[in-house]
Amino acid sequence: MKKILIVGSTGQIGSELSIRLRSIYGRDNVVCGFYTPPYPDGFFDAGPTAEINALHIEQIAEAVKKNKIDTIYNLVAILSATAEKHPKLGWDVGIGSLMNCLDVAKEYNCAVFTPSSIGAFGPNTPKDQTPQDTVQRPNTVYGITKVLGELVSDYYYERWKVDARSVRFPGIISSMTLPGGGTTDYAVDIYYKAVQGEDFICPLQAGTFMDMMYMPDALDAAINIMEANPDKLVHRNSFNVASMSFDPEMIYKSIKKQYPDFRMTYAIDPLKQSIANSWPNCLDDSCAREEWGWRPNFDLERTTKDMIEQLKIKLL
Ligand code: SER
Repeated sequence: MKKILIVGSTGQIGSELSIRLRSIYGRDNVVCGFYTPPYPDGFFDAGPTAEINALHIEQIAEAVKKNKIDTIYNLVAILSATAEKHPKLGWDVGIGSLMNCLDVAKEYNCAVFTPSSIGAFGPNTPKDQTPQDTVQRPNTVYGITKVLGELVSDYYYERWKVDARSVRFPGIISSMTLPGGGTTDYAVDIYYKAVQGEDFICPLQAGTFMDMMYMPDALDAAINIMEANPDKLVHRNSFNVASMSFDPEMIYKSIKKQYPDFRMTYAIDPLKQSIANSWPNCLDDSCAREEWGWRPNFDLERTTKDMIEQLKIKLL
């Protein structure tokens, strides 16, 4: 049975991953690290917690030691657009949390999951069906921290047998906790506006394609890569995973089928547009499919249907 610590458990991914992990491994076998409010409803009653500033290695080590942790999910990050505005913060948080988790994992013999991202690619990466192994020269701080994360995680595995594994997440669409400061956030915000009966102002141009994924698939990816048979893994850090790629017009049309009066206009955010332009249109995820059986369940239409249902419950 796994004993898991989630560092950064109150963010967009952590707030849902913690629920899923507890349903699989048991409530008391998943310790939720918290630091920055707001905390999800019922957070402190749902299971064990630990106050952890990911930049303080002794706090991670203490939680690991005290709870006999064998697997760390490190979800701490400053997303791409915010990191461009505050590069030092983006670097310190992204790299600091990663190195602290890897060093604690080395000492206490833990496995580690740290998400990489489509942001780990750059403007001279092949844009369509981006291969698993290809040019990675990102031009954002976020992307640079993700490439470094991939490399150093493989290094800790090769050198010290730290069982570090990862996937390159696309933009993640979810209804429980909002993302903040990412380039792909528009694909969440647009659903909130539609359900609240408001117009949506899109920060990216029509024709800007990026990979996206609905949260249930993202949770499957994060859990299944950590459960994968290590003998079958040719790669480790990090796997391309994909489920859908669309541009603003496609998601708008998908929502309009349920809200015919919904209106979208454009006010381009130059920073987000330039980041999006540097990222792939769609990844080739065949290595993840072959090496550990990755299969997504949600396309755009299914995502739209479920997002709207969930947001109606939450907002109306
Ligand atoms: N969702 C992230 C961002 O937009 C990409 O991984 O920054």
